[in-house]
Parts: sequence; structure tokens; C-alpha cells
Amino acid sequence: MTISTNETALAASAVATRAIHAGQEPDPTTGAVVTPIYMTSTFKQDGVGSLRHGYDYSRSINPTRNSFDAQLASVEGAKYALSFSSGLAAIDVLLRATLRPGDAILLGNDVYGGTYRLLAKVFVPWGIGLDVVDVTDPAAVSAALAAKPHGHYRYIWVETPSNPMLGITDIAATAAIAHEHGTQVVVDNTFASPILQHPLADGADAVVYSTTKYIGGHSDVVGGAVLLNDDETREQVAFLQNAAGAVPSPFDSWLDIRGLKTLDLRVRQHSRNALKVAQWLETLPADLVERVWYPGLESHPGHGIAARQMHGGFGGMVSVQIAAGFEAAKRFAGATQVFTLAESLGGVESLIEHPGAMTHASVAGTTLEVPANLIRLSVGLEDADDLIADLDQAFKAI
Ligand SMILES: Cc1ncc(COP(=O)(O)O)c(C=O)c1O
Repeated sequence: MTISTNETALAASAVATRAIHAGQEPDPTTGAVVTPIYMTSTFKQDGVGSLRHGYDYSRSINPTRNSFDAQLASVEGAKYALSFSSGLAAIDVLLRATLRPGDAILLGNDVYGGTYRLLAKVFVPWGIGLDVVDVTDPAAVSAALAAKPHGHYRYIWVETPSNPMLGITDIAATAAIAHEHGTQVVVDNTFASPILQHPLADGADAVVYSTTKYIGGHSDVVGGAVLLNDDETREQVAFLQNAAGAVPSPFDSWLDIRGLKTLDLRVRQHSRNALKVAQWLETLPADLVERVWYPGLESHPGHGIAARQMHGGFGGMVSVQIAAGFEAAKRFAGATQVFTLAESLGGVESLIEHPGAMTHASVAGTTLEVPANLIRLSVGLEDADDLIADLDQAFKAI
């Protein structure tokens, strides 16, 4: 990836500016302002091994993908971004590139079900140790690390806010404890997005994203990314990215580029809408709502940390426990008319789901199991009052 002088100047500008301009040099042939979709698998060589600007084959390198990687790295304030064909592909490659049999991971006790499934069903059988801890509790993290020899855990895996309970982990405090014990910290920053939270600046060693969510932002692309500052880890991840090949298509990268340009605006509005929805849910009587989970609410146990660690909002995700239990929660999820019943999150349209039966079905029966009466809302960019009216009529329908 070449960084032009324009990009060096950009590094000092605000995130909204970087999101629109970083990695977005007008096309050198035509001047096209928008990065073209370089839908080509291969590139003409001017002689054997004589490549034009380093391009040979699109699994290894593609101009549209490079453009997105440069844009995302700039928005994150990271040295490197490497993009993948899904969030799980990004996680898989980061771990496979850097772990060896006998290494171990300390996993937060509330994470995306697919992350747990990958670790427990694929990595553990290949000889990776896996233990689970409440990462929101620094004393529990310290105790877990101290119980094993220095460096036993290669990584602590943190989601903050976590999926689906919206738990908040203090990234800087966790990194300080982890580093004392020879352990690195990976933060899955999918819920916060690079607009609200900067884990690398707070001391984390790697960041992963499902770009399928807020970064793509329109529920029309599946993708992932690994963000790093460390040169050696970047080499390892880039090697396996090419060697194994789970790269995004040029069209995927183009959709991510377009999404990322408006991320700043969108995430701030998602956060405003989600706060309004969460505050309204909290006003409902105890026979309707058992508990609302949103880090922007003062009732949230991690609110103080989130207010310090997240900048400009608390994100668009709200979880709510329905007082009448499992069956009522399922009926509620099926009764909304503006919120669409679907997995995923982070798109412009509001989505509703039942984690226990949908996104987190794979953690049933484990220490990560989620409450049966839990409903997860991805609060979109519709008018907040329309969203509240929709939830209100759904409560009446259960
Ligand atoms: C927090 C989190 N991380 C990772 C993933 C996996 O991403 P993908 O579905 O793009 O593979 C998801 C998917 O829902 C997620 O919510």
C-alpha cells in the first residue's frame, strides 16, 4: 500500500475527514473520484516478474482492497489494516497466524457465539487452550492470569461493548494487567466501531472487526478486518491472508469503502436513537421489562468506564430482558413492524433478534449461555419516535 503525501497530511485531520479521503486517491488513469471496483483476478506483467506497482494476482493484492485497508487504518489510527471475507475469517487468520499448539486464550464470558464456536470447536481440537473469564472484572482477570505461569495465555479476548449483554471492559486497565503477565489483548471493536472507541491507543495489541456491521453499514456486505501496529504480527497475518486466501472481493471492498465514508455520521445518530430507545424501555413497568442493558444508561454497571472510554456516544445496540420470559420474548421479536426480525446488526435499518435461539444458539449449555428472555435490538437510523411506537405496539401484542 503506498501512502501519498496527501495521506501524510490527512493523518492530522479529524476522523470524518480521514473517513472520506484516506486511501481515496483519484484513479491515476481516468481521474475517477471514486475508487473503481478493480474486478480482475490478475494483472499484466511487463516482463517476467516486472509488475506494475506491485500488482500480480488479486488474492495477494488488489487496488480496491488496498484503498479500503488504507482508509480503515487511517480511521482507526492504526499502522495496518488487513481486510477479509468475513469477521470470522479475520479472527481465524489472526489466531492461526500467531498461535501454535500449546498456546492458550483467555476469553471474555460474553462474546459473539460464532467466535466461541470457532475457538471451542476448531482451535481447541487443534491444541489451543481455552478458558473463560468475566473480562469486565479486573480482579477476576488478574486472578485468572496469576493462576497460570507467565505468558501462559497468549491473548485475552475482549468484546466491549460485548455481544449480546453489552458488558463494558476497561481496555487500558485490562491491557496493563495482561502485559504484566506476558499476555496480549485483542479487542473485537465491532459494536463500538472506530468512531467511538480506539483500543490500540488504549493499549490493546490487536483489533478485529466484522465490517459486515457498522463499517459496511447497509446490511449488504459480509467482511472483516484485523488492525495492528506491530510489524511482525502484520507480516504473519498478511502471509496467512495470502496463503489461505479468505480475502474480500473487490466489490465487497468497494461497499466497505462507501460505508466507511459515512460511518461518523451514522454511528452518532445510531447512538442518539439507541439512547432514546433504551431510556424509554427503562420507563416501562417491571411486569413488561425485567432489565435494559445499554452502556449509555446510568443504571449500567459499566457506564462510568464507557463514558470515559467511548467518545461521542455509546453505540446502537440495546438489549432488553422481557419480564414474561422466553415465549413472550419470542412473541415480542416476531411482533415488531419497523424492526426486522433478523440476525446481524449495524445497518441503517433496525433489527430485532432473540440471541438465545439465533446468534448465540452455539453457546447454549456453556458458561457463555445468554438469558432465555433476552432480546437484542440493533437500533437503526429511522426516526426514534417511530421505533419506540413500534416497540410499544409489540409489547401490547405479547
Ligand atoms: C462482535 C462480533 N464479532 C464478530 C462477528 C463475526 O463477523 P462475520 O459475521 O462478519 O463473520 C460478529 C457477527 O455477528 C459479531 O457480532
